[in-house]
Amino acid sequence: MSNTPSPEKSARHVAIVMDGNGRWATARGLERLKGHARGVDRVREIVGVAPDHDIKYLTIFAFSTENWKRSAREVTGLMSLFRRYIRKEAETMMRDNVRVRFVGDRSKLGKKLRELMIDLEKQTLNNSNLNLTVALNYGGRDEITRAVRRMGNAIKAGGLNPEDITEDTITSYLDTADIPDPDLVIRTSGENRTSNFLPWQAAYAEYVFTPTAWPDFTEPELAKTLESYRDRDRRFGASLSK
Ligand code: IPE
Ligand code: IPE
Ligand code: MG
Repeated sequence: MSNTPSPEKSARHVAIVMDGNGRWATARGLERLKGHARGVDRVREIVGVAPDHDIKYLTIFAFSTENWKRSAREVTGLMSLFRRYIRKEAETMMRDNVRVRFVGDRSKLGKKLRELMIDLEKQTLNNSNLNLTVALNYGGRDEITRAVRRMGNAIKAGGLNPEDITEDTITSYLDTADIPDPDLVIRTSGENRTSNFLPWQAAYAEYVFTPTAWPDFTEPELAKTLESYRDRDRRFGASLSK
């Protein structure tokens, strides 16, 4: 599969930094975990409507390699939310024909969560209406570091010749090897940064930063965001086409 972004006008692969759950909760006098729970409701909605908007690939940033710096209470709460989400959602993913994959370093996650992730990936392997990728304990630099380590081992073992390494080789060593590059990256909640999300893959993505907190990011805002994407002229380094 080619990992160049899609030339079509509509975004085939949308990636989302789901930010602002904590602030959403705090602003309402609730504890941060309540915001994460509402964030999960929004994940359900957006995953459900994505195919209606011609989205074939949806990638969501659920937990970063940096998020371990949060309080033990929040981290534990998030991990339990992930386990509950996977258990509850498996049936819906089968009904809606959604293939689920996880990217990120799994080795640092709990055993039960890892098992649930593998089971869901296996169960949904042949689904094709939507490709959902959940970035869990994901960091772009960490992903590249792990890829380089594996490439180094392949060189040492004689299976890879350094002279033959191309951009496609590197792509094929990333967690996202089988997934095309994102066309559009959306970040909610007003922060204008990428926070280590898909640095290699999103090199030529369009970005939309919205002030809306993730728990408030409903289908109408998704529709509006996709419309603004369609109005953009993606040139990939070529000269102006109009
Ligand atoms: C995003 O919301 C969810 C995760 C990082 C897990 P935040 O928890 O970062 O919410 P804010 O940015 O503190 O409001
Ligand atoms: C990025 O949000 C990670 C996720 C959405 C899972 P953060 O809230 O962790 O990012 P920073 O700390 O504001 O950069
Ligand atoms: Mg945040």
